[in-house]
Amino acid sequence: MTADLAVIGLGHVGLPLARAACAAGLTTLGYDVSDAVVTGLNGGRSHVGGVRDGDVAAMRAAGFSATSDAAALRRADTVVICVPTGLGADGTPDLSAVRAASRAVARCLRPGMLVVLESTSYPGTTEEVVRPVLEGSSGLRAGADFHLAYSPQRIDPGNRRFGVRNTPKVVSGCTPLCAKHAVAFYGRFVETLVVSRGTREAEMAKLLENTYRYVNIALVDEVALYCDRTGIDVWDVLYCAGTKPFGFAPFRPGAGVGGHCIPVDPRYLAAKAGAEGFSFRMLAAAHEVLSRMPAHVVGRAAGLLDELGTPPDRASVVLLGVAYKPDVADARESPAGPVASGLRARGVSVRYHDPHVPEFTVDGVPLARVESLPEALEGADLAILLQDHSCYDMTTLTRAECALLDTRGKAAGPRVTLL
Ligand SMILES: NC(=O)c1ccc[n+]([C@@H]2O[C@H](COP(=O)([O-])OP(=O)(O)OC[C@H]3O[C@@H](n4cnc5c(N)ncnc54)[C@H](O)[C@@H]3O)[C@@H](O)[C@H]2O)c1
Repeated sequence: MTADLAVIGLGHVGLPLARAACAAGLTTLGYDVSDAVVTGLNGGRSHVGGVRDGDVAAMRAAGFSATSDAAALRRADTVVICVPTGLGADGTPDLSAVRAASRAVARCLRPGMLVVLESTSYPGTTEEVVRPVLEGSSGLRAGADFHLAYSPQRIDPGNRRFGVRNTPKVVSGCTPLCAKHAVAFYGRFVETLVVSRGTREAEMAKLLENTYRYVNIALVDEVALYCDRTGIDVWDVLYCAGTKPFGFAPFRPGAGVGGHCIPVDPRYLAAKAGAEGFSFRMLAAAHEVLSRMPAHVVGRAAGLLDELGTPPDRASVVLLGVAYKPDVADARESPAGPVASGLRARGVSVRYHDPHVPEFTVDGVPLARVESLPEALEGADLAILLQDHSCYDMTTLTRAECALLDTRGKAAGPRVTLL
């Protein structure tokens, strides 16, 4: 049986994409190298926050199935690659999953097929990495025999207002005809499409979006460090500046940046630019400031424990919210890791509370989890609010017996200290 779409990589990006396509009536299959992912989805279980088991059941009812057999890609008219683009051990771009996925597609490529890369990567990836793999072993040519496109994913985990359908999507092709095919495909389930001049513009646009956040978060973090040094209330500064109705976009300081995208994507840009002899100085400066933030939070916590007269080796600290952003279950690259690590290094006993994150390991050692918030606050000398999940009611936090270090600027009260 043929399929309209095969999604490669059924994670935080691929699964919501498959869900949107199924909902629009496209016959969709998914290919993933993880047997656990495939078995779970075929059994009706979602492993991605924001996609419920009920959504998977609806997808299954619409004919969706997952497989770890790459030969299934042969059945699809369009293949969309949504595999991870992380960093290698040396901190440089790791495109091994993109290469592996491209090889799997190349083995199944047939004339007329549309292949789209959605994974975030540096400008040139579609043309320089994916295209040679597809053309090399198949003998088919992009733009002539098959269509090759790049369309970055803008999914915002935890966002209830914007999803795949109503978030404008940038689409590009290796040739105008490739772009036309990509527009026709996405037009079936995305409301607004924005066509860029070429694939490098679309790749760069995605990196600009995330680098913009990276650099601006670093800017307010550095403002927070300066305000802390000089006794200026940074939260009041942010409130006042935020009232400007034009020319100012608000960002909040915190313990650092996390997730699979914001800390990683600028590294792709810096690496590619560096290889081309261009030095992105803003990225280097932002990286330097952001890497200081977990240690700053640890320092502030140590100062508070000192004020309380509690020696670090007798202190109990609970981290509230270890996910990298509010109301998500994703704790990848979360600054909670280095904060916990820094506190442990001072001899502090550290636990965490996060209803979204069932397990959290720091430096290879699991961090003790407290199930209930009252229990978490009761046993602690100090609570550190790292992530303002909507379950954290500020009245409960500020009435607690323990001191509260609030890195999100949400709480007020006699026992509360703001970052
Ligand atoms: N998570 C986000 O919020 C987000 C937002 C926009 C863009 N992106 C980008 O989207 C891409 C995917 O990210 P993600 O968060 O969905 O990753 P993820 O880790 O959640 O999911 C990736 C999936 O791909 C599978 N996989 C790995 N190699 C494979 C291969 N060779 N063939 C088939 N399947 C393979 C993994 O088993 C996993 O299930 C990345 O480039 C990321 O930067 C992510």
